[in-house]
Amino acid sequence: MDIVDLQRVTKDYELGQTKVHALRGIDLQIKEGEFISIAGASGSGKSTLLNLIGGLDSPTSGVIKINGTSINNLSEGELNRLRLQTIGFIFQSFNLIPVLNVYENIELPLLIMKAVSPQERKERINHFIAAVGLSGQVKQKPYELSGGQRQRVAVARALVTKPRIVLADEPTANLDSKTGLEIIDLMHHINRLEGTTFIFSTHDAKIMQRADRVILLEDGTIKPDNSERNEERR
Ligand SMILES: Nc1ncnc2c1ncn2[C@@H]1O[C@H](COP(=O)(O)OP(=O)(O)OP(=O)(O)O)[C@@H](O)[C@H]1O
Ligand SMILES: [Mg+2]
Repeated sequence: MDIVDLQRVTKDYELGQTKVHALRGIDLQIKEGEFISIAGASGSGKSTLLNLIGGLDSPTSGVIKINGTSINNLSEGELNRLRLQTIGFIFQSFNLIPVLNVYENIELPLLIMKAVSPQERKERINHFIAAVGLSGQVKQKPYELSGGQRQRVAVARALVTKPRIVLADEPTANLDSKTGLEIIDLMHHINRLEGTTFIFSTHDAKIMQRADRVILLEDGTIKPDNSERNEERR
C-alpha cells in the first residue's frame, strides 16, 4: 500500500481580492520506505504540499490518504494523533522550544505520547542525541547552539517517536553545504535502517541527488518527466 496517496489535490489561498492557486491538481503516490525529494522554484508549492500531507493545512479539493485513510474529514483530535504518532516534522527554522535544553526538546514529543517507558525514553533520546552528534551539548538551550546544531536537535526530535513518515521543509536551507549533506546522510541512514519514509523539499541539487525519487513542482503542478525512480540507489 502507498503510505501517502494524493488524488487531484488543489490548494487555493485567498489574497485580498485575488486567488493564489498554490497547487493545481496533484496526483502523487509514495511507497513506505521511500526517500523522496520535492524540488521546484520558490513559490512552486513545496511547503503547501508538505503542509497538506502533514495535516497542518487542508486542501481546497481532492483526497489525501495517509496509510490508506483519508485525512480530509478527521476531527482535530484525530489529526493531532496522526501528527504525533505517524508523522515527524522538521522545519527550515527549526521550531525548537527556547526554554528547553537539547535533551528536553527531544524528550517533549515522547512525554506527550506517554506510550514509551521512562527507561526506553532515556535510551532513545540518548541514541538520537549521539546519532546527530550532540552528546556534548545535552544541557544547552537553543540560543546557545549554532543553526546546524539546532537542526540536529530538530532531526532527533522528529525521529525519537519512530514516526513512519518524516516531513522536512527545506531542512538544510539554513546550513552550510557540508553540514546540510551530513544531515541528509543521517536522514538517509535512518531511512535505510528503520524504513522510515522521508519526504523533504530542497533547492539544492546536491541534496536532491541523495533522493530515490525527485518530484519537481512547477507553478503548483508536478512535472511528469522528473518523477522516475533512481533504481540504483534502492
Ligand atoms: N498563507 C498564504 N496566503 C496566500 N498565499 C500563499 C500562502 N502561502 C503560500 N502562498 C502562495 O502559494 C504559492 C506556493 O507557496 P509555497 O510556500 O508552497 O511555495 P514554496 O515552493 O514552498 O516556496 P519557497 O521555496 O520560497 O519556500 C506561492 O505563490 C505563495 O505566495
Ligand atoms: Mg517553502
